[in-house]
Amino acid sequence: MTSHPLRSRNWFGRQDLDGFVHRSWLKSEGFSDHVFDGRPVIGIANSWSELNNCNAHLRTVAEAVKRGVLSAGGFPLEFPTISLGEVLMKPTTMLFRNLMAMDVEECIRAYPLDGVVLLSGCDKTTPAMLMGAASADVPALMVTGGPMLRGMWRDEPLGSGTDNWRLWAERRAGRVSDEEWCEIESCLSRSAGHCMVMGTASTMASMAEALGMTLPGNAAIPAPDSRRLVLAEMSGRRIVEMAREDLRPSRILTPEAFDNAIRLEMAIGGSTNAIIHLLALAGRAGVPLSLTRFDELSRSTPFLLNVAPSGKYLMEDFFYAGGVPAVLRELLPLLHSGAPTVNGRTVAENAGAAVNHNRDVIRSLDLPLAAEGGLVILRGNLCPEGAVLKQSAASAHLLSHRGRAVVFEDHHDMLRRFDDPDLAVDESSVLVLKQVGPRGAPGMPEWGAAPIPTKLLKRGVKDMVRISDARMSGTSYGTVILHVSPESAVGGPLALVREGDEIELDAAARRLNLVVDDIELTRRRAAWTPRPLQFERGYGRLFLEHVLQAHEGVDFDFLRGRTPVRIEDTAGPSHL
Ligand code: FES
Repeated sequence: MTSHPLRSRNWFGRQDLDGFVHRSWLKSEGFSDHVFDGRPVIGIANSWSELNNCNAHLRTVAEAVKRGVLSAGGFPLEFPTISLGEVLMKPTTMLFRNLMAMDVEECIRAYPLDGVVLLSGCDKTTPAMLMGAASADVPALMVTGGPMLRGMWRDEPLGSGTDNWRLWAERRAGRVSDEEWCEIESCLSRSAGHCMVMGTASTMASMAEALGMTLPGNAAIPAPDSRRLVLAEMSGRRIVEMAREDLRPSRILTPEAFDNAIRLEMAIGGSTNAIIHLLALAGRAGVPLSLTRFDELSRSTPFLLNVAPSGKYLMEDFFYAGGVPAVLRELLPLLHSGAPTVNGRTVAENAGAAVNHNRDVIRSLDLPLAAEGGLVILRGNLCPEGAVLKQSAASAHLLSHRGRAVVFEDHHDMLRRFDDPDLAVDESSVLVLKQVGPRGAPGMPEWGAAPIPTKLLKRGVKDMVRISDARMSGTSYGTVILHVSPESAVGGPLALVREGDEIELDAAARRLNLVVDDIELTRRRAAWTPRPLQFERGYGRLFLEHVLQAHEGVDFDFLRGRTPVRIEDTAGPSHL
């Protein structure tokens, strides 16, 4: 095999004082001379953390990657990255996605790496690593940690998030006892891995696979299944070849790859968060992508995957049914089948032999769950730059709806008042939540699925139209309109909504309008003033000064594009 010149030689191949220093100091870890003989140096970027349960098993995955790297003649070096744990990190991991992307990008650039294996799992860790790797543009391949085994309460399967939102509503309505609630707590998350519905983690793992950035089959293998370690070992072997071939993300992350990922997103009823992450990643890869493209592809991509929160099965069932390759095989007539992937084969070559083992889990193109994709992009005077609705997880009777606004001025206001017995709300009301977008919250938390007031839950109301500039968990469901752009904190029309205003949703026509005349809106706009910014220093201030709006992916303005590392940039003395 012809081998591309390796950038690590600029550290370890030199016979001057710097080469001596680079080798000598690394030998303190116990490495022999052999590791400096010109073999590719492979970084294993590990987002392992005990603070992030979804990624807590990644040290084991890293060991399997190392086996693969060593057996293919590479030199593996594992290094830590920031880890963003969705459950414990406050106020929201989204505030730190770009920070993690910067960490990954700069470590790849600064260290003597010829290739990188990205180990991710929990929601934001996957897009952050892909964004960083895309900007650094060193050969890179991703291995995700895999979903947990399905939750089981007695003989009832439970899905992460989806079932705890449902059971929490049942408990508030008085239908789940203290003892049952305590029992459920121990039954839901019973193995290593990330959430096991088609939430954001599973969706982003699927996106990475459809983009061509993982080996085929990666996304759905359960975390405790031995085949995940087999795939990790194979990924370790493959990255050594990729380093020699100089197969960089810029050759994988093409416009065709993004189309393929969006098609898959629509077919699997994936998380709304994937829209934001794909927009940000496209910005890094220099691929023009707008919300319009998501809607174009949604209209012509059938919804195929019967997995929660948009269906009845869980990720474990998806794996047994054939996983992402089986869905891609169904979608092949709609895909750019010649798009390259990290294993050197095209999408069609990878998916062509896939088998669909359960047609109730993965539907066929001619017998889909719905004719259109799971997500729609709305436009109108309430969201001039767009808003997102997951129609596959919404209530059919609310997809065309006109109701009066119940307005919460921010998240605290909502928490204080949503259960007030005197709140003027009924099932036809539209719950509006402001100040929860990228700059407003800040960090665009997953607060968009506002709770249904208890007095309505007790009357059997299970869903209402809810609108905000926030995101929602990929595990959530309901008629929840998200990512309203521009956001209220920068004076978007959402800021102008008042109690009792009529709001009209027509999902089929992709419309979302505030039924208030332009003269009145102009008057309200003139009276509107922004709130003071929440951070005066540190990373929070950087975030507020540079974050882009939802329709642009919530990346920082100065991080779009890539600065590929070059061998000639790595020369220079070490500083001791
Ligand atoms: Fe990590 Fe759900 S909490 S994926």
